[in-house]
Amino acid sequence: MTKPAVLVVGQLPPKIMQALEDAYVLHRYWTFEDKEKKLAEVADTIRGIATTGHYGASRQMIFALPNLEIISSFGVGTDAIDIPAATERGIPVTNTPDVLTDDVANTAVMMLLAVSRDLVQADRYVRAGKWVSDGNMALTRAVRGKTVGIIGLGRIGADIARKLEVFGVTVVWHGPRPKPDVSYQYYDDVVRMAGDADYLVVACPGGESTHHIVNAAVLKALGPEGSLINISRGSCVDEEALLAAMADGTIGWAGLDVFANEPHVPAAFIKSDRTLLLPHVGSATEETRAAMGNLVVENLALHFAGKPLATQVNG
Ligand code: 8YV
Repeated sequence: MTKPAVLVVGQLPPKIMQALEDAYVLHRYWTFEDKEKKLAEVADTIRGIATTGHYGASRQMIFALPNLEIISSFGVGTDAIDIPAATERGIPVTNTPDVLTDDVANTAVMMLLAVSRDLVQADRYVRAGKWVSDGNMALTRAVRGKTVGIIGLGRIGADIARKLEVFGVTVVWHGPRPKPDVSYQYYDDVVRMAGDADYLVVACPGGESTHHIVNAAVLKALGPEGSLINISRGSCVDEEALLAAMADGTIGWAGLDVFANEPHVPAAFIKSDRTLLLPHVGSATEETRAAMGNLVVENLALHFAGKPLATQVNG
């Protein structure tokens, strides 16, 4: 039996590439020099796309492949995939939810604690010999008794909330609609929630409906003693507004795992000693990335075996 051809949009972890290589004829999109020309050459043969939350799949790519049957993505976020285009063509899209919830939520909690205690600044303080030359470091801020406003109480947001409870904080949240089974206070207005919060955690999906959900007005409401934590998508925050808010002290601190134009991080964030900057590593543990990769492979295998998919996003 001939192996189906799969277009791999961007590099996946080596073990996953190997598993895909064993089952499919792979076309490595990121290695194509003239992408349009090369894609046109192999377009008729391609039956599957393997991609990531970062690389996605554009409408143009989806419509360039006449025999495309499935898009299997590595990551829970599907904002970089043109889902309406896939649905229009009757092509199922799968993602990797659940398996990454724990590590992404841990990253948010880790960042919140690190920001509150100036953890990276403290490490730098010791390394720079300042403990010896300048004495004790300035005091930091307790999280106990503070209010954490979470934007998006889906799987990841709910896990962050649950984990934060042990720190003695009050959790409140915002989402598109209240949930009857959730006891945390709900805000239908992000600005109002930010006004009541000490920490604002962005945990909603990316995409049009959450584009710049954290804007200048939200940052102003969060205030000079407030901190922003983003483990979702750079697009959820108006980065220009955040740069301005950090520069003039409109908000106090920011912990960012995601940026508007990854992997490029604005120089002003890098220069600031009130930012904690991570290179989009929320789900980046050996264990979680392996589980995510297995799900990418499993969904393709289920599809080509004519079985129901494990984690389909579109109906
Ligand atoms: C991955 C992510 O880093 O799950 C997501 O949506 O952002 C991350 O887990 C990403 O999908 C890999 O590009």
